[in-house]
Amino acid sequence: MAKANSNVYKRLLGYSKPYTKRIIYAMIASLGVAGVDVSIAKLVQPFVDYVLETPTQSLVNLVPLVVIGLAAIKGFSRYIQEYFIKTAGQLVVQDLRNDLYDHTLDLSMGYFSKSPVGTIISRILNDVGMLQKSAADELVTVVREGLTLIGLIGLLFYNDWRLALVAFIVLPVAVIPATQIGRRIKKYVRKSLSNISNLTSILQESFSGIKVVKAFGAEEAEQDKFHKENWNYYLRMKKVIRYDSATAPIMELLSSFGAAGVLWYGIHRVMVGDITKGALMSFIAAMGMMYGPMKRLIKTNNTIQKAVGAAERVFEMLDTPRDVVDVDEAIVLPPSRGHVCFENVQFSYGDENPVLNNFSVDVPSGKMIALVGASGAGKSTLIGLLARFYDPTSGVIRIDGHDIAKVTQNSLKQQIALVDQETFLFHDTLYNNIRYSRVDATDEQVEQAAKMAYADEFINEMPEGYQTQIGDRGVRLSGGQRQRICIARAILRDAPILLLDEATSALDTESETVVQHALANLMKERTTFVIAHRLSTIMHADEILVMADGALVERGTHQQLLDAEGTYRRLYDLQFRD
Ligand SMILES: Nc1ncnc2c1ncn2[C@@H]1O[C@H](COP(=O)(O)OP(=O)(O)O)[C@@H](O)[C@H]1O
Ligand SMILES: [Mg+2]
Repeated sequence: MAKANSNVYKRLLGYSKPYTKRIIYAMIASLGVAGVDVSIAKLVQPFVDYVLETPTQSLVNLVPLVVIGLAAIKGFSRYIQEYFIKTAGQLVVQDLRNDLYDHTLDLSMGYFSKSPVGTIISRILNDVGMLQKSAADELVTVVREGLTLIGLIGLLFYNDWRLALVAFIVLPVAVIPATQIGRRIKKYVRKSLSNISNLTSILQESFSGIKVVKAFGAEEAEQDKFHKENWNYYLRMKKVIRYDSATAPIMELLSSFGAAGVLWYGIHRVMVGDITKGALMSFIAAMGMMYGPMKRLIKTNNTIQKAVGAAERVFEMLDTPRDVVDVDEAIVLPPSRGHVCFENVQFSYGDENPVLNNFSVDVPSGKMIALVGASGAGKSTLIGLLARFYDPTSGVIRIDGHDIAKVTQNSLKQQIALVDQETFLFHDTLYNNIRYSRVDATDEQVEQAAKMAYADEFINEMPEGYQTQIGDRGVRLSGGQRQRICIARAILRDAPILLLDEATSALDTESETVVQHALANLMKERTTFVIAHRLSTIMHADEILVMADGALVERGTHQQLLDAEGTYRRLYDLQFRD
């Protein structure tokens, strides 16, 4: 437990390293704040013993000057200190959040298919946010109150070590409840953050699936789900509040023991003449001032534990291993001729049965291959493996003889253009959505790609043409229009390997014919894998691969496969024949 904590501290400290200068400035400034506090405590003695005992006009005149002067020094130091430590805290949190986003984006598709988007978003926003709320501001407190405390303790011992001992007997006793409370707070903050994660996830899903919610009148069910999780969050926070609120009273009570002892013993010592009244007053003033920072430090411990709870979650995510990575000796895949080869490829998404089983196929460059098979047969998975969304459990996939697991991901992706069955478009202009696949494309190239995808016509009818904004803040596109934008995007990529996963499923027959023509032109010098349900597409393939339950069961041309009277024939009879 303590070890885990110290690791978290160490990593957080690592993040603050670049901002050491700011932290040092803040520390120097906090010397000013603490110094003033200690001086005030120290000055009580001469004030009582000299100024009040034998007042002269010049001494009295000095008093307001000293009071205002000290306040000015303290105020200025405090400003400098807060400014630098808080900006340092913000910068640390910035770096942490960037790292978290960068790391998460590099995680494989496997991670994303297991983790709800909402919970990922929540970690990056809320967990880091909690860290920021807690850690950044509290750094100030620890430095300032810590220094003040050390100064005051020194002064107490310097003034009267016997009294100081009496005052400090409570300190070790106070540490025990403080650490216990801190531990509980950390635990419940961690739990509450997972509630916030769930809340974000519910929000994300209900809003992005708002059409389904409305269509099935499921608003109330969604509301119940949200309210329940929101209540769970309250229950966790209630625990945090309970422990947090108990801290101050417990400390108050414990310090009263110290104060009681000091008063009793101190007055006794004044009575027997060991110390002056001024010395006792100075001691009591210092002790009174000391319990303040002590209480605040202990309270700060609570807040720091909140931060540690959040930091643990953040670091857990940062430690999620990236399973699809470039190997050390990864080479750059040279411009591909598109010779694709699957050798005994086996793959499963989790521990369950393999989705692809001993799959082998050799596709010469420039061929158009149609993948056919019942839904769930593993067609999309095959394409995903070729795009290296996942690595095969065993077996090798080669492009031009290079194992794709041994080339850099960047160079691999350069060779591939994918149109997925999910037509995703960004909330951006049509132009930028097409250009996404090749950011250095010229306007002419973008328009050319749009023309080939049969998208040019409807784009030009849009209010602002290619600059029309789409998505939530712009126009809505039909399913077919979206697909054509995605196809244009892939065409612009101009890659030697083209992957089309039901890329034309949402097109009407007329525009499909046109897009097919465009794609046919495009496919000429490329290796293409097509998953389609329309016979017209499949018939034109150089070869058809028939898949069932993750295995290759038949291959051949349309006519060959029909003649074979096998799986393809059955699919054909079911799906394609009118
Ligand atoms: N992300 C995933 N996690 C776990 N299982 C998956 C995932 N994607 C697909 N599957 C499973 O893998 C099998 C093949 O799916 P898929 O390749 O999408 O089939 P097809 O594209 O041929 O319809 C199905 O049984 C499906 O349930
Ligand atoms: Mg599929």
